[in-house]
Amino acid sequence: MDVIDHYDLLIEEQNDPLRDLPVLQEYMSKWDGVPFLEALELSKDKSVLEIGIGTGRIAVKVAPCCLKMTGIDISPKTIERAKDNLKEYGNISFVCSDFNSHEFDETFDVIYSSLTMMHFENKAAVITKIVNLLKDNGIFCLSIDKNQSEYIDMGTRKIKVYPDTLDNITSLIGATSMSIVKTIEIDNAHIIVSRK
Ligand SMILES: C[S@@+](CC[C@H](N)C(=O)[O-])C[C@H]1O[C@@H](n2cnc3c(N)ncnc32)[C@H](O)[C@@H]1O
Repeated sequence: MDVIDHYDLLIEEQNDPLRDLPVLQEYMSKWDGVPFLEALELSKDKSVLEIGIGTGRIAVKVAPCCLKMTGIDISPKTIERAKDNLKEYGNISFVCSDFNSHEFDETFDVIYSSLTMMHFENKAAVITKIVNLLKDNGIFCLSIDKNQSEYIDMGTRKIKVYPDTLDNITSLIGATSMSIVKTIEIDNAHIIVSRK
């Protein structure tokens, strides 16, 4: 099954991490959580891009701490849910599009992504695009899943993914005009913090 159908179906199945019980929300923080949010170095004068905003699980914590943010997601039903979940924040622009092909008309102080990189087959192209969207001195913060399965297996459907490794992503970032500031290992992910 393709990625768009999978995430659209998750919404139909009432699967929305932002509406989960607190105990499940705490579980999701094993992929990012406080270390990830702190690494963004947010402030009220910064513009932010989230790649794969989902239903807004992380954006709900980012939007109040920045000037403005853009969230892009390829799944129409997911982005509609994000708009509803985050309607109290007037500083978020929602884009329903494939990050690979979308043409942005601005650059950003901070770009971040969690639990999404495994959906991209051509990681080098994604990282090059991110560098070009980042302002000088801007921060790119990426969480990559430790899970090395090549499929998300939902029992009734399987979705092909392209697992990431710390070595591969750090070497791709190292080949750009970004420098790696630090990597942080957390329960289920590696967080890679880079600066342009
Ligand atoms: C596992 S979810 C993570 C959502 C959110 N980052 C979070 O951690 O709660 C992955 C998200 O990436 C989106 N996505 C996958 N491929 C994409 C692409 N090519 N362009 C934009 N979004 C994409 C999916 O629709 C989905 O909402």
